[in-house]
Amino acid sequence: MAKAANSFEDEIFALRMERSAPDLWPMLDALYGHLPGYPQFQRDLQKALAAAWKDRPDDLKRLDLKRDLEPDWFQRPEMAGYVFYIDRFAGTLQGVLDKLDYLQDLGITYVHLMPCLKPRPGDSDGGYSVMDYRKINPAYGTMADFEEVAAALRARGMSLCIDLVLNHTAKEHAWAKKAAKGDAAYQAFYLMFDSPELPDLYERSLVEVFPDHAPGNFTHYPEIGKWVWTTFNEHQWDLNWANPQVFLEIVKTMLFLANRGVDVLRLDAVAFMWKRMGTRCQSEPEVHMLLQALRACSRIAAPAVIHLEEAIVSPAEMLPYLGRGQHDGKEGNLAYHNSLMVQFWSALATRDTRLMAHVLGTHFPETLRNATYATYIRCHDDIGWAVTDEDAAALNLSGPGHRAFLSDFYDGSFPGSFARGTLFQENPATGDKRISGSFAALAGLEQALEQGNAAEVDLAVQRMVMGHALIASFGGIPLIYMGDELALLNDHSYHDRPDHAHDSRWIHRPMMDWDLAAQRHAGTSPAAQVFWATRHILQRRRAVPGLHAGYGTRILHCDQPGVFAFARLAPTGPVLCLFNFTENWQHLPESWARMQGAGQMHDLLSDHPVETHGGMIALPPYARVWLI
Ligand code: GLC
Ligand code: GLC
Repeated sequence: MAKAANSFEDEIFALRMERSAPDLWPMLDALYGHLPGYPQFQRDLQKALAAAWKDRPDDLKRLDLKRDLEPDWFQRPEMAGYVFYIDRFAGTLQGVLDKLDYLQDLGITYVHLMPCLKPRPGDSDGGYSVMDYRKINPAYGTMADFEEVAAALRARGMSLCIDLVLNHTAKEHAWAKKAAKGDAAYQAFYLMFDSPELPDLYERSLVEVFPDHAPGNFTHYPEIGKWVWTTFNEHQWDLNWANPQVFLEIVKTMLFLANRGVDVLRLDAVAFMWKRMGTRCQSEPEVHMLLQALRACSRIAAPAVIHLEEAIVSPAEMLPYLGRGQHDGKEGNLAYHNSLMVQFWSALATRDTRLMAHVLGTHFPETLRNATYATYIRCHDDIGWAVTDEDAAALNLSGPGHRAFLSDFYDGSFPGSFARGTLFQENPATGDKRISGSFAALAGLEQALEQGNAAEVDLAVQRMVMGHALIASFGGIPLIYMGDELALLNDHSYHDRPDHAHDSRWIHRPMMDWDLAAQRHAGTSPAAQVFWATRHILQRRRAVPGLHAGYGTRILHCDQPGVFAFARLAPTGPVLCLFNFTENWQHLPESWARMQGAGQMHDLLSDHPVETHGGMIALPPYARVWLI
């Protein structure tokens, strides 16, 4: 009996291998085929894939099968994500179990536990400096707790996303420690140089991610006589992906985590994985080959798993992470829609959506194959103004001028600004200024409350609700960042923590306010209003099949600079989505909406008819409507 079952499982593995081999080996041949140990590497990889499949628990194999039958599972309108730090949300992994009712009440079906693998002690860049990929951060619990959370989520039909940091490990990782001791095999896992000449040459074309607290891209360690590539912080050592052993070890790690019950692997900082002299060493073609190969490995040994790629880059550079050209449909299943996020904030500040419509309409195709966006308004990182000079010029704006305006607006220094953010990593050399701040604070709530201005409080609430309605309808998985559903304000206490004080991103990584959450169904506080509206948006989203992420998104130009419009191209007829980015009423001709295919003036979001006056659709301040 057992034998028969085994051979059937072997057969499934062989079929999966056959299916994805053409996506895998050509990439690896091109990356590593010239190296002497290549045939052995191929055998080792084959073995690692087979071993991971053999270890895969039965319930996950069942999930594999289910998702084979429903390959669009992550594109469905019921998908809605929530992102949090375990300690800040619930203390520990066991604590998370007690909070699942809350998430279900909000309408969440996808949970991203922010970095939860064992970090280095002390400052760990919020957990992105990992010293052991096979252990859970002991402050949060054990691997058994983690598997319990994964199973509890699965039982509720919720998916689990975790971070896998691919670009670097902590310098305390076992590989790094061996490298520091002089082990040549492990030195080849990193980018280590005996003298500063090459680092200096590379540095000429590199940019700095943390110019402020971690300037430069290399660190000199006199005690080991090496210059080590450290793009991010000193304690984060970049991995050498030109070494196939790195690929092999990461594949084993990836599948180990997949077999613990992870559904979505968020591949961190992928743009930086391949280095080439004379370039910015971001988004090099080899990055896409590596990502396609990693994806193929998941498809072979853990097919229920999908990949979310974190590449916070300009529009044209971002799309390939979802697969273009030779990688079409074979790379990431999800990638952050950084441009949508940036354009939301830009249009909110200018009360003008023309740049937004230009960027989103010009650089992004209407549909993607086997992939979709992670749509978001805020995340745990800063906002960088990824607006190119060319795109700004298309609207007669100066790129540097517009970017500087946005920083001034969101740090609150621009006269009349409603926002209360703070600067992150100001770079005097490039003039670049990024922004930190919670959704609510950037949307105006902090200032309005301080001024006791009820009308401004209401506008801030409306801005937040519009943002959540936008990411829920644009196409993709909307990700709600912890606390934004309750309009949590900035948290200034990070100044008092020595390991956080240098990093203003902690201003928007607050502790969850469970007292506020307990009052969410009562009263008319901003928290209750935003919670209620967000919950309603996700509920309505589930009820509108036309919002499936597989259907195209066509950006429309409606001659009203204050209104952003797009159509979701469902086969049963378009859903016309309108957003008023101003605090004034806007009016659109009903005839225009009908021309775009909106046959009825019925708003699917409020589930009420829209207001019309004399043939015009009337949109109140910060209105959001989904017309059928
Ligand atoms: C990712 C994370 C960010 C971190 C960086 C380095 O971009 O989102 O928080 O600082 O990687 O690991
Ligand atoms: C930049 C990088 C991103 C990093 C972030 C840190 O946006 O592109 O990878 O995580 O900075 O805040």
